[in-house]
Amino acid sequence: MTQSLYELNGKPIRTLISEEDINKRVLELGQQLTDEYQGQELVVVGVLRGSFMFLTDLVKQIKLPLIVDFLGLSSYGGRTQSSGVVRVTSDLSTNILGKDVLIVEDIVDTGLTMTYLLENMRTRQPKSLKVCTLLEKPDRTIKPVDLDYIGFTIPDEFVIGYGLDYEDKYRNLPYIGVVDGLGKEE
Ligand code: IMP
Ligand code: MG
Repeated sequence: MTQSLYELNGKPIRTLISEEDINKRVLELGQQLTDEYQGQELVVVGVLRGSFMFLTDLVKQIKLPLIVDFLGLSSYGGRTQSSGVVRVTSDLSTNILGKDVLIVEDIVDTGLTMTYLLENMRTRQPKSLKVCTLLEKPDRTIKPVDLDYIGFTIPDEFVIGYGLDYEDKYRNLPYIGVVDGLGKEE
């Protein structure tokens, strides 16, 4: 049986944000971050696993001697909905005390995960703490979070690709896609 990366449950995956548009936006964000973090001790913290592709492309466009680290988070709950009960599954290896920390996330949906993460990071007393998210879905906000850098604002649809998964798959799709009807089951 042949398998296709470009369909899910027999339905085609529609492109919401193309590879080209992502690349353009990542370049802009990288230039902005390069300007704004001049002379600072930047630690870029990627939230696993969803941010891996965005972080990889983004740090190549930040022309500064920064540190990259990762933090694993796991959210209990349904397949496509966040519960807000979050657990750190893998911690940073960097001490961020006194550092300028930029959290890189794939998507801020309800805001519950980011609210938890910011509280956790603040206890470690970084000099500054900011958030860069590839996507935000404002229609779904439960806990409003200050997002310092946003790639794209998207409608209330479940998206996959460019790091984002559906049941752990489709993260390697090189663009952001949607499948009609997905994410409504819970
Ligand atoms: P929040 O706590 O509701 O803001 O959700 C945050 C996490 O849920 C993200 O880091 C994603 O891992 C996941 N998530 C939320 N919306 C989507 C989506 O549309 N596609 C894939 N994952 C999503
Ligand atoms: Mg995530």
